[in-house]
Amino acid sequence: MKSRLSSFLKLPAGAVALVFACAWPLLAGDAFQQNARLGRGVNLLGWDAVWQDRARGKVKDIHFKLIREAGFQHVRINLHPLRDGKPDANGQLREEFFKTMDWAVDQALSNGLLVILDYHDDLAISPDPAGKQKEFLESWAAIAEHSKGRPDTVLFEILNEPAAKFTHESWDAYWRAALAVIRKTNPSRTVIIGPDMWNNVGELDSLKLPAEDRNIIATVHYYNPFPFTHQGTPWTGQKDKLGVTWMGTAAELQAMEKDFAKVAVWARQNNRPIYIGEFGTYEKADMASRARWTAEVARQFEKQGWSWGCWQFADNFAVFDTGTQKWVEPIRDALIPRR
Ligand code: BGC
Repeated sequence: MKSRLSSFLKLPAGAVALVFACAWPLLAGDAFQQNARLGRGVNLLGWDAVWQDRARGKVKDIHFKLIREAGFQHVRINLHPLRDGKPDANGQLREEFFKTMDWAVDQALSNGLLVILDYHDDLAISPDPAGKQKEFLESWAAIAEHSKGRPDTVLFEILNEPAAKFTHESWDAYWRAALAVIRKTNPSRTVIIGPDMWNNVGELDSLKLPAEDRNIIATVHYYNPFPFTHQGTPWTGQKDKLGVTWMGTAAELQAMEKDFAKVAVWARQNNRPIYIGEFGTYEKADMASRARWTAEVARQFEKQGWSWGCWQFADNFAVFDTGTQKWVEPIRDALIPRR
């Protein structure tokens, strides 16, 4: 085939082989193209009862259809392989875990949504990275092997918000080990990696991606100003600090622009696409401020060419109310403006 092609192109076979070798990384998946396809997305399933019992899940088949119809292009599925997969001594995950994961992936793909398999067990790993590394790598090996036949519209995210006992150095070694495991079975899978310190928007400078692997999207999360987005959350020490508004004043916008400028500089210097994998506001903030902030950040991300996944579909910070089975319209419209 190569020789026929080379005679057709009137080029020596060696030259044709060289062209193929150079073009292969592009054919195998371009991270910028992949990021453009991700576009607008939504996080889901992290705390859904579906992981314990399929019948009790709040998120059902219909919701994937609704998500697509609302204009979202991808879902970031928040997986807890340690909590829900319960690895055995050989690192094998429960069959039930894979069944539920496959259900979610199938639902997303059949509705035209891209999928990010986000390893969201940071709370189990961050307090003891070294102690958990074996389970972490084995569970990644199992997920990667299980999902290797999936199309390129399924992406892997190595670990959500590494923090606590991680340092820049230990996180660097940690994700490199996981990437090596993933690449054994998924050489052309697009992989998402963020900096430690909760994927904080200000921490990208510490992320040094391998020059030879271009099929990587860098990710950060955006929750600034934290006292506004997280007011009333019991898990952050902001429980009683209510009444913080976001009016879009010049000072507020400037602070935001400063955050984004740092990301833009890093992205340019490192020539990597950016995915804002989480951003959102808790229900205790006033709705007008929440909608204002959400619309502002989403449009800013888009202006920069960054894809985004809002936090989150149901539960809290929610864009959909599974009680009434209705969208939280001011948030949905802020995320995806009606034409
Ligand atoms: C955490 C959630 C939390 C959210 C906003 C996520 O990364 O996993 O538990 O609700 O960030 O704080």
